Amino acid sequence: MHRPSVFYSILEPIYPFLVQQFADDYGLNRGIAVDIGTGPGFLGTELAKITNMTVCFVDLNEEALQSAKERFMVSETDNEALFVRADVKALPFEDGFADFVMSRGSIWFWEEPEKGLSEVYRILKPGGVAVIGGGLGRYVPDSMRRRIVAANRDRLIRSGETRPCFKDFSRMIEDALLEKAGVDSFRMISEGEEGDSGKWVEIHKNGDGKRGGLS
Ligand SMILES: C[S@@+](CC[C@H](N)C(=O)[O-])C[C@H]1O[C@@H](n2cnc3c(N)ncnc32)[C@H](O)[C@@H]1O
Repeated sequence: MHRPSVFYSILEPIYPFLVQQFADDYGLNRGIAVDIGTGPGFLGTELAKITNMTVCFVDLNEEALQSAKERFMVSETDNEALFVRADVKALPFEDGFADFVMSRGSIWFWEEPEKGLSEVYRILKPGGVAVIGGGLGRYVPDSMRRRIVAANRDRLIRSGETRPCFKDFSRMIEDALLEKAGVDSFRMISEGEEGDSGKWVEIHKNGDGKRGGLS
């Protein structure tokens, strides 16, 4: 079995908070949700636990997808689920397939973010919403946030790995969405101050399915 990194044992408690935030913000209960770059499947599985949505777990990596499947299978939810190996730049879903698309911690790895974002927009139903980015969400208690941020900082120092550059996120999104994907119905969300805060982009598809104009 594919084992998620040790850091997930520290990160795991944030996923129920994050999906609760999404469910509250977007009134999620029924329809189709897609979790892109699902990794070990925490986000999709937690969303299934609190909604009646069909959840599509999508990842490039077969092992990650297998791990997501195993996690979902033991979660004792009765929601329908699909496990799809795909690159976000060519999603095997029809236009208007999804009511909700979420993606956490993945866009920094996409080779061509503008293609991925364009695909996300294409598969959204008119009236649908997508939330893409990274961070812990607003509902995580402060003490947990401080502990996770500190643990992540230590982990990065020890491993020499570089963290995603949140500062460049807005520029990258605006460039990819506005200039290249031609999508202008979006808003940037910042979780807090500079530094360890998360950044997200929320993309709306208008009810008429046409590009343009914030809904
Ligand atoms: C850091 S993990 C995040 C996992 C999960 N979303 C979470 O928050 O726990 C990033 C995931 O994105 C996936 N990924 C990277 N590039 C991708 C792409 N172009 N299309 C689909 N998935 C991709 C990776 O395989 C990996 O599982």
